[in-house]
Amino acid sequence: MSSTISPCQLYARALFGLVFSFNIATVVCLDADDRSCQNGECTISDDYAHPDWSQFQGHLGPFGSGIADAIPIDEINEWCSVQTFLSDYVLPRQPLVFRGAAKLSPGFQKWTDEYFLDLEDVPRDNQVLVETVKKEDRGQNTLFMNFLDFVASYNASGLYMVDTVPEFIRDDLIIPWPLQCDQLYEQRIVNTIMWFSSGGTKSVVHTDSVDNINCIYRGQKEFVMVDPMRFGHLVDIDHPEGAYSSVDVDRVDYSKFPGLAETEYNTIKLEAGDCIYIPYKWIHQVRSFDSNIAVNIWWDAHGNQDIDMEDCPFSYDPLLTMSHVILHSSEEGDSNNVAEIKDEFLHFVTPGPKDFNAFLGYLVPEKEELDEMKVGIGYLFPIKKMFALFDVDRDGRMTLAESKSLPEEAWETVREELQKMDLILAKIEEEIQRLDDEPGHWERYPDGPSDREEL
Ligand SMILES: *[C@@H]1O[C@H](CO)[C@@H](O)[C@H](O)[C@H]1NC(C)=O
Repeated sequence: MSSTISPCQLYARALFGLVFSFNIATVVCLDADDRSCQNGECTISDDYAHPDWSQFQGHLGPFGSGIADAIPIDEINEWCSVQTFLSDYVLPRQPLVFRGAAKLSPGFQKWTDEYFLDLEDVPRDNQVLVETVKKEDRGQNTLFMNFLDFVASYNASGLYMVDTVPEFIRDDLIIPWPLQCDQLYEQRIVNTIMWFSSGGTKSVVHTDSVDNINCIYRGQKEFVMVDPMRFGHLVDIDHPEGAYSSVDVDRVDYSKFPGLAETEYNTIKLEAGDCIYIPYKWIHQVRSFDSNIAVNIWWDAHGNQDIDMEDCPFSYDPLLTMSHVILHSSEEGDSNNVAEIKDEFLHFVTPGPKDFNAFLGYLVPEKEELDEMKVGIGYLFPIKKMFALFDVDRDGRMTLAESKSLPEEAWETVREELQKMDLILAKIEEEIQRLDDEPGHWERYPDGPSDREEL
């Protein structure tokens, strides 16, 4: 492959890493005239290393102010049937906007702060999770407080409730018609989250590993969406453990995130009463305006193709409220489901080939701390075994093509090795905890616990 790569492209690779090599090489090398060559040796002028990003639409602007996606997102009035939704949008993973659909729920009219504060059956020990900063920071402090205390104080405090819709107001919401099938609302829903704030919130750029319908009951929200099938390779999700990007959503710096200069964005403005379907793995970023309440319903996308649509009702039931939803935690069996594992790993190598260290960092983000504590390296063996499986041609890199070529049995092995790795890491954690609790233990080992090589 090296024979086809110009020095400029090689330089681009060195600069931006393999992840962006192909596309950035194209941008950076559009004009190859700034190369000065002497005796066959070429050097690249500074203009190549630092393209004039200010020429690119959206540089240093908010996320989404780059190139508008030429393919618009579909919109309908209110809901469509379960069958239409599943076959035309969910299975092909295409987003859809439902204008006015949330107005069908009583909560749309009822949910004023006065109504909440007058609720009589709120349990005293009720606690909701509240975020303390509006610009999402995944390291921020969160706290728990009584729902009524939250309602009474959010305007003045800037607090942001992000938690499951409290039981005592679930009857105010009707399950969206597209989800009115027991195979969905009784078996696949992972969470129903209420987002409640005085507005001005901003999420990070991220993907969800679940399907999602989000409805706005108060205020406005703006969703910036990026099609992962067409542009996923350009968006650097540099925190794969949390599926988000560290890009500053108010000031997108193309010199740090060059792929975003080429990405195409769909910006969807939702008013109170509107809903949107965000297919799993679609890259998105959300801002809210004015006093704001939204509720989203997340469901496990991996079983979508198994839903028997003929067995779902064909008409809308206005009495089917959210109290009928049975929640299933997404954590259970995380490393048990081969389809899910496969999906995660294919996603991991989609941006470009990965070497062993990248793979290790992806699976064990806390590796540096573990090294510092000199814990045993037992957890490396399952990871090495998995890497060896993925690296079919033994060139030290795992690629999307290689991963796609793996037979089912190999994925079964991956699942087993992941479980082994989890088990070893859990043991290490247990041991660290035990030693932490033992008075004076760490003083005896100034370099950390080196006595646990067997782990
Ligand atoms: C908070 O502010 C909104 C809009 O500004 C207002 O409608 C609401 O009643 C206020 N809530 C409280 C508890 O004061």
